[in-house]
Amino acid sequence: MAEPLPPDLIHALVSAEPRLAGFARLRYFPEVDSTNDIALQLAAAGAPAGTSVLADVQRAGRGRRGRAWFSPPGAGLYLSVVVRLPDAAATLPLLTLAVGVAVADAVSTTSGLPIELKWPNDLVIGRPWRKLGGLLCESTGTGAQVDAVVVGIGINLRQVAYPPEIAERATSIETELGRPIERAALVVETLARVRDAVDRLRNGEGDWVCHEWRRLGRAGLGGASVTWSEQGVAHRGAARDIDDRGALLVETNGRVERLIAGEVTWERLRD
Ligand code: BTN
Repeated sequence: MAEPLPPDLIHALVSAEPRLAGFARLRYFPEVDSTNDIALQLAAAGAPAGTSVLADVQRAGRGRRGRAWFSPPGAGLYLSVVVRLPDAAATLPLLTLAVGVAVADAVSTTSGLPIELKWPNDLVIGRPWRKLGGLLCESTGTGAQVDAVVVGIGINLRQVAYPPEIAERATSIETELGRPIERAALVVETLARVRDAVDRLRNGEGDWVCHEWRRLGRAGLGGASVTWSEQGVAHRGAARDIDDRGALLVETNGRVERLIAGEVTWERLRD
């Protein structure tokens, strides 16, 4: 059941109203299975763009490639936003990059931390890379008939004991900064920047997305090693760039391969 917004969130949303417009439609749940599930239901029922869902804990938070997303109470930002774009199926790869830029910049602005992006949209920091957040885009509709996209945003806020399989690679804002930051401020900065990024895409500013993504993802694009599998065959190459539709360009055996979201495993960048 949705509950009234906590006072700190109301205050932060009201203060940022001019930057948020429709993206101030925030629904708050103390506990859910997944904020993406609720946002997908709302989107399917016709909820307008900018409708978003925030929870304190997720019982079944999910990440990319069918992985679980560790979502203990009060330790993370668990937020899902409904996005509507005219040609959503075609724009989806670029949309995920655009929202990655928005969220990375929101975390940097709110915390001062130098967040980087690892394609397609992991928020990482430091050497070796540690993951601080990630995005999961899911859509209503089928195939080319995408009706709405739900962008699920998970950011590790507090220092907690992570499950062993991610403990070595995960970090949080509190761990990196030495103190926690206010969730309400990060929620509002994130919503404002996601709104701006989506507006830019709607206005045909794909170049802006690529330029901003390269700014935050340039370390990996300097030749970091990636592996992927194609029809059961494993490949390895060096990441070089992204293209204007959001694909990763990888140099392998003297030619350039174009990879689309979700297939790639990165070696951790260490220096
Ligand atoms: C990733 O694998 O990196 C993506 C993680 C996305 C997690 C967020 S938390 C809010 C939303 N609800 C979910 O169940 N997943 C996303």
